Amino acid sequence: MKVLMVCLGNICRSPLAEGILKSKSKNIIVDSAGTAGYHIGNKPDIRSIEIAEKYNLDISDQRARQFNTNDFNIYDKIYAMDNDNYSKIISLAENQKEIDKVDLILNESYPNQYKSVPDPYYGGEKGFENTFHLLNNACEKIIERYEKR
Ligand code: 4NP
Repeated sequence: MKVLMVCLGNICRSPLAEGILKSKSKNIIVDSAGTAGYHIGNKPDIRSIEIAEKYNLDISDQRARQFNTNDFNIYDKIYAMDNDNYSKIISLAENQKEIDKVDLILNESYPNQYKSVPDPYYGGEKGFENTFHLLNNACEKIIERYEKR
């Protein structure tokens, strides 16, 4: 099982999602990417690194990369952090099989509600605390679905 976490910049939300799911999983291969290329090669945002540290996760080795269509071949499941990025990923898909790999990550914890993980980039630290808990709960559900059966 291979999972890709996708947000816009690949420096705030999806690096946290990657770090959290990796920490909970034994068998799932996890990576993350951004639909935009602004931050290619950069470390996660310091606020994401710090909230991860608070919960004993080290995500500082991650480097941002951009989502590309080959990711549809590599990954079994592609989780978008929000509706804009979901639409962007779907727009790059070439067939139904690729579309079916894509879901909103919060549909795991809030089924069929199509909620977005709010973009914390322009907010304060509180936004990152909220991001962490939303992603932690969603990743618990991913583990229940794909590892505990
Ligand atoms: P992310 O947050 O998509 O969670 O990594 C953002 C990071 C950078 C920008 C926007 C959102 N930006 O506009 O540079």
